[in-house]
Amino acid sequence: MQRKMSLSERFDSLLPPWMQEIRVEAYQKISESRFAGLCYVGNEEAMRLLIIGLWQFVDDFPHIVGRGKRCLTRLSHVEMHGMREMISLLRKTKKILREIQTDEEDHRNLWLETGRALGLIYPENFKQEPLPEVKNWIKAVDEESDPLTMFLKFAAIEIIAESISKHLIPSSNFTAVLGKRGCEWFRLHTVHHPGVSHEELALRIGFAFCQGDPIKNLCNATIQNIVDHFVIAAEACLTLCP
Ligand SMILES: [Fe+2]
Repeated sequence: MQRKMSLSERFDSLLPPWMQEIRVEAYQKISESRFAGLCYVGNEEAMRLLIIGLWQFVDDFPHIVGRGKRCLTRLSHVEMHGMREMISLLRKTKKILREIQTDEEDHRNLWLETGRALGLIYPENFKQEPLPEVKNWIKAVDEESDPLTMFLKFAAIEIIAESISKHLIPSSNFTAVLGKRGCEWFRLHTVHHPGVSHEELALRIGFAFCQGDPIKNLCNATIQNIVDHFVIAAEACLTLCP
């Protein structure tokens, strides 16, 4: 009989190869949506509506990551996996999660820079009550969940950011509207720092809590649900767009 792997051993394991199929499905959905098309051709009004409309999520995300980080230290995980296992996993992930949180705080500021490139002033132009579709997206990500689901949802956010950025950065119409500084949020999400990406780290933390091998259909359903919520939210932001 195979020995049960520890949390840390599962964290150190390679990602399943089918993750790439999940990324491709998300990229296709995002790049083929109307909102991405309008940004691609450099429609400034659409871009302004998106920057304002999605702001609540961007503003909340660093806090959501912070809550996720704290939830790992829950007593129930210690009871289920044992103190030694939890401490060794937390040792491996603590620094990384702190980094993800501070990076997301930087990205929040870069989002405002993109707004500035479109003539938007913070906080004056960002006070709009979020649309119900945007609230639903935030709720879906922030909802209380088990660690596997929670970290899959964080990975979904990384996949969304990377997909939209990889789609838009090659468009000269898009980059011409935003200029160098305004493009920074998107440029950053297309390059990987040396080492493991945030998406991979989130997935590895989530998979560490999997009993047995991760199941593709379940992981795909969790990730695509967040991607679908995002696309619906982004499309809703454009309801005022001519
Ligand atoms: Fe980000």
